[in-house]
Amino acid sequence: MRAVFPGSFDPATQGHLDVARRAAGMFDEVVMCVLTNPAKTGRYPLAERLVLLADMTSELGNVTVDSCPGRLLVDYCREAGVGVVVRGVRTPGDLAHELPMAGMNLHLSGIETVFVPASPARAHVSSTLVVATARGGGREVGGNR
Ligand code: PNS
Repeated sequence: MRAVFPGSFDPATQGHLDVARRAAGMFDEVVMCVLTNPAKTGRYPLAERLVLLADMTSELGNVTVDSCPGRLLVDYCREAGVGVVVRGVRTPGDLAHELPMAGMNLHLSGIETVFVPASPARAHVSSTLVVATARGGGREVGGNR
């Protein structure tokens, strides 16, 4: 089955990579697709996010990269022949945020969402904290450089 792991990936982190790697073990193909989160303003241009994603996943043979800006995830799934959505969850707060989205996507199109719990070593990693740490001159193992 072809799965999509959607996100802002602004930028992608080692936390995302951990989820992608584990999802790649569960599905025939995993597409990491950059979509628009209307609640976020965006830090990096789409092209830069895609380059980083492609670089990070280059050694994962069944993980590909795509984008679908400004459109609904369910429309992307229909057009790309995707059968399941993968999302990583780090905290109960993440899950509370994710469940209504999973429910809406199920309602809209019948697509199921599989939640992958973050590895304990990565559960503190977020794009926001990685960027803030890097801008402050710190090195954070969850980042990509
Ligand atoms: O990394 P993020 O910001 O948590 O990812 C959220 C994202 C981009 C997956 C979500 O906002 C999304 O699915 N956007 C596409 C538009 C859409 O389908 N909205 C309805 C969701 S129920």
